[in-house]
Amino acid sequence: MEFSEELIRELVDAAEAVRARAHAPYSNFRAGAAVYTDRERIVTGCNVENASYGLTICAERVAIARAVAEDAGRPVLCVVTGSTEEPLTPCGACRQVMIEFNPAMLVVCTGRSGERLVRRAAELLPHSFGKGSLGG
Ligand code: THU
Repeated sequence: MEFSEELIRELVDAAEAVRARAHAPYSNFRAGAAVYTDRERIVTGCNVENASYGLTICAERVAIARAVAEDAGRPVLCVVTGSTEEPLTPCGACRQVMIEFNPAMLVVCTGRSGERLVRRAAELLPHSFGKGSLGG
């Protein structure tokens, strides 16, 4: 599926806006994500940290979980942004969650430089374990 530059820019703006709401008192690292669905909905997420560090949820997973909870449709595009100079790429856990909902999801990673790294979720996590791996 092709996406217009206008739509991608809209998602970048949405991800930047939600990034400001990150709850990141431990790392001081703010991330934002904006998911676009096959129902043409935009759903955003920021990272939400916890004093029990391991309970931290990344921006991408917050956005995807919100899309599920809001019955917004299947994520087809996800923009990720952070305060890194280079494009912020999703962690392994987020890649696994992306695969769960759409291995073909286009993931657009951005950072302060404005450079973009664009990959399908399945490219970010090759040989992944997914619903098809369970057999039976
Ligand atoms: N984080 C994200 O939200 N998304 C990413 O793509 C990378 C990392 C968050 C998790 C944690 O709150 C902080 O950034 C530092 O790792």
